[in-house]
Amino acid sequence: MTNGYVNRDRRWHPAALTPDYKTSVARGPRQAPLSFPTTLVEETGPVFGHEMLGRHDNDLIVNFATGDGMAIGPRIIVHGQLRDEFGRGVPNTLIEVWQANAGGRYRHKKESYLAPLDPNFGGCGRCMTDAQGFYEFRTIMPGPYPWPNTMNDWRPAHIHFSIFGQAFAQRLITQMYFEGDPLIWRCPIVDTIPTREGIESLVAPLDMARTVPMDARAYKFDITLRGRRQTLFENRMEGL
Ligand SMILES: [Fe+2]
Repeated sequence: MTNGYVNRDRRWHPAALTPDYKTSVARGPRQAPLSFPTTLVEETGPVFGHEMLGRHDNDLIVNFATGDGMAIGPRIIVHGQLRDEFGRGVPNTLIEVWQANAGGRYRHKKESYLAPLDPNFGGCGRCMTDAQGFYEFRTIMPGPYPWPNTMNDWRPAHIHFSIFGQAFAQRLITQMYFEGDPLIWRCPIVDTIPTREGIESLVAPLDMARTVPMDARAYKFDITLRGRRQTLFENRMEGL
């Protein structure tokens, strides 16, 4: 099948209330969600273009650095293709990423982890998919970090992804993990995902073919927006 309409399979997503992920108890809705009609502004804009991005926006190793500085940490390339439900590349789509530094610390005013900030690492980047839906970032491997859930929970190394569609209301958010990380299978947040297939859709394999010798390893993260092979997103678009 190469066209037609594919409904989003909501069984693919975690339940809103998952008590082992403690904050879901307080914020999980207790009543059925309401649907609101989208407004004209939500459906028509803004639309991003290549001209809005800076030259180093997709290079987190240098985009916050001063002088000749570079971010500290294992150098990696993260790349892949954004696809629709039929496997076709989705062009001209804004992809934003944010992540902790190599020590597992975010540059955020509410961050409290004792690992130090890296003065040359901001932790944010963005790029547009090309005409075939391909994208690429250069960054450093984020470190795992502890978080207050039970006594000793650690997030696996991960990169947060946001994908903007053709309008403000079309935004999907997810997290990418790294092949071989044992913390993936010990994380209460990951564990809210109902199926192993759903979890594995978020694990990027090492991609030796795109590795830059003596410089950076590469990880491949393809993203499918919906359908049987869809990537698991943290948020669910009403009506989509
Ligand atoms: Fe995070």
